[in-house]
Parts: sequence; structure tokens; C-alpha cells
Amino acid sequence: MAKIAIIGTGYVGLASAVGFAHLGHDVVGIDIDKEKITKLSRGKSPIYEKDMEVFLKKSLKKKKIQFSTDYSKVGSSKFVFLCLPTPQLEDGAADISFILESSKMLSRHLKQSSTIVIKSTVPVNTWKLVKEKIDRDDVAIVSNPEFLREGTALQDFFKPDRIVVGSTDEVKAKEVSSLYKAKKAKIVFTDNTSAEIIKYASNSFLAIKLSFVNEIAAYAESTDANALEVLNAMGLDKRIGKDFLKPGPGWGGMCFPKDVSALKESAREKNVPIPLLDAALESNLKTHARIVEKCKKALGGSLKDKKISVWGLSFKANTDDIRFSPAISVIERLILEGAQISSFDPIVKSVENLSMKVSADIEQNVTGADAIVLLTEWQEFKEIDPKEISDLVTQKIIIDSRNLLNKNKWEKAGFTFIGNGYN
Ligand code: UGA
Repeated sequence: MAKIAIIGTGYVGLASAVGFAHLGHDVVGIDIDKEKITKLSRGKSPIYEKDMEVFLKKSLKKKKIQFSTDYSKVGSSKFVFLCLPTPQLEDGAADISFILESSKMLSRHLKQSSTIVIKSTVPVNTWKLVKEKIDRDDVAIVSNPEFLREGTALQDFFKPDRIVVGSTDEVKAKEVSSLYKAKKAKIVFTDNTSAEIIKYASNSFLAIKLSFVNEIAAYAESTDANALEVLNAMGLDKRIGKDFLKPGPGWGGMCFPKDVSALKESAREKNVPIPLLDAALESNLKTHARIVEKCKKALGGSLKDKKISVWGLSFKANTDDIRFSPAISVIERLILEGAQISSFDPIVKSVENLSMKVSADIEQNVTGADAIVLLTEWQEFKEIDPKEISDLVTQKIIIDSRNLLNKNKWEKAGFTFIGNGYN
């Protein structure tokens, strides 16, 4: 078992810390946020993530994990994972200042011959800058990007498709890969720079894929075709793959928008622009707008003073994360068109700076609605009985941007049902 320090206990850091502790390693999670550290030390997860608290509590009980604000605590760890945020700067590039500042601070505390593992999503050649800041010949720098999805972070940690380990030091790279004890995962050993690009290219490829899916959905709606049939058949081709083919209100979250912009900016700096990335970003905004257009059309061409019930605020189901949520972008556009919004989300109970009502329950949410718009694919929405709410709404119109609900059931209850990708 190894001694591991995790710098940064955000979503990536916490999932990695709790994951490694569960595998039997001795983990210390370090963060500058005192409140967070106190919470974590008491077994409370600051993020909504399946099983996180259960696993956290178990590891705390077994004394496999501890949390601290003190950087000197890394002194006994052989592996130090950098899991700090790399937020988007105004020009779209990634801000790596947290990574560089903490590398500088860490340098004097690091144990002899320890390994710095960069887990954050970082632009190309960040590893060289980290090396400069650490400035120690005995310390190896390994680039080991994360591929965890919010909502299934622990499951992805324990059963990854692949583990990417980039380093000039083969021995250290092997040591890092073995920490995961993932027998079935493909381990990719590569150089640091390729590892950095693998992460950006993967997220960007998925974002491009989704933008295309949403464009096909829009196109199919202009014909007699059903995009769901089209996409399903496309997915049967192994080269295309059946995952990530669901039309929606657009892709969002803290990763795709930020990573697509960062790769775009980084490529532009190298004078090798990647126009597909611009197109994917632009297409995604068009998708948000298209959902608003669908509402408008369903309500006779104007949203002025129309009461819209929105179902779902988070950027996808099973997370409380509303950062870059397509639901928020669609709501902002609906408000601009003059609509009055009443929203409901099973987990998100408040949103700052948005003039809308956040309802406590579905009944309250749909009362007086001119239309219901489903924006996040929470399974709870499937359980709603249309018959039970049909007397509460003003107009029986439902727009299901995620194709989650049973069309027949809603139509039987007298609703006009509008899906995504077909008429
Ligand atoms: C994404 C990647 O999937 C992870 O591999 C990566 O580690 C992570 O970013 C990261 O860089 O940290 P995540 O942001 O949690 O994970 O979300 P995804 O599950 O990938 O979904 C992204 C967006 O695409 C969501 O808005 C989701 O609703 C949308 N989506 C996804 C669709 O609209 N249709 C689909 O078929 C799939």
C-alpha cells in the first residue's frame, strides 16, 4: 500500500482520494478551504455524488483517509496528485495558476524521490512548467489525466476504460499505474505531452460528437425522419459506437465547454487552428436556442408572459452541478423572450441571479403552466403521472428535450407531446 497525498479536494480530488483510500492506500487530502476540510473530516461530502459519503465514512473509520489544510502533510507521501482546478480565462485558455502556485509551495515539503502526478486537465506542456516550479531532480513528474464523469465518478474510478500515464520515467509511470489496481483497464504508457493532449482531445471529440447528434436531431425534425432511429442505427457501427448519441438541450458542465475552448485556444496559439471546435461550440449554442424555438412554436409564436414549467436544472442527471448547464442557458433565453419560469429539480434547490421561481414540488411547479419543458434527464420525471397533473396546468403541452418520457402515456392524458429529433 502506498502513501498518497491529493492536493485539491474538488470533485476530481475527492473522488480520487476516496477511491484510493478504498483500495487500501493511506491518503491525505489537502485543500486551502478550511470549511471543506472540516466537513470532509466529519464524513460529509461537499458535492452530491453517488456513494461518495458512504465510501468516505468507511475510509475515515478505517483511518485510511485524513484531510488537512497543511501542505507540509505531503512530506510522508510517495505520490502527490495535483487535482486543482484549471478554470477558463476570458480568452478561453485554461488558467493553470493554481497548479503552478501549489507546485512552488509543495517543492520544499516533498519527500525524497517522490512523484508528482498531474491529474487536473492541463494545457500542453504544463508538466514542464510544473517541473520548473518543483525544481528538484529527485522528483518525477507523471501526467495522469482523469476521465471521471460527474454522477458516476467512483464507479469510473474503480472501473476505468483506460488509465493514461505519461512520463519520461518508466519506473515511476508503472508505479503510478499500479496504484489503481484496475486489472481490466487498458494502461496507456506515453509521454507527458501526449497524455495532456489525450484528455483534451477525448473531451473535445465527445463534444463534437454530441453537437453533430443535436444537428442531426434538428435536421430530422425538418423531415419525416426520426433522429432516434437514425442515431440508433448509426451506433450499431462499431466505428461510431452506441454511446453519446442522445440528443438533448446541448452539452454542458464544467468540463466540455472549458476543455473545448482551451484546446481551441492552445491550437490557435500554435498556429494550427481546429475549426471543428469553433463549430461544435457554435452548434451547441444553436441547440439551446432550438429548444427555445420549439417552446415558442408550441405556444403559437410568442413566449411573452407565458408560464413555463422547467424540469431539471443540473447539466445532466445525478449531479447538483449547474455550472455551464444547458438548462440554465435555455432558461435565460426563455426569460429574455418574456416567459415566466417556474423550475423544479430533485436536487438543485436554488440558483443565483436568475429571476425565476424554484418550486418545492412538481404540483407547485406545474400549476398554471402554459407548457412544461424537460431539460435534465432525472429518472424521477419518468414516474410523474400525467393524469395527476393535467388538471393543474393551463395548457397541456410538454416538450421533452431529452426524450426521457413515454410519449403514449402523455398523449393518452391529453398532452401535446413534443420530443427531440422527430415530429
Ligand atoms: C466529462 C467526460 O465524459 C469525462 O470522461 C471527463 O473526465 C469529465 O468530463 C472531465 O473532464 O472531468 P462530465 O462533464 O461529468 O464528464 O459529463 P458527461 O457525462 O460527459 O456529459 C457531458 C454533457 O453531455 C452533459 O451535459 C450531458 O447531458 C450531455 N450528453 C451526454 C448528451 O446530451 N447526450 C449524450 O448522449 C451524452
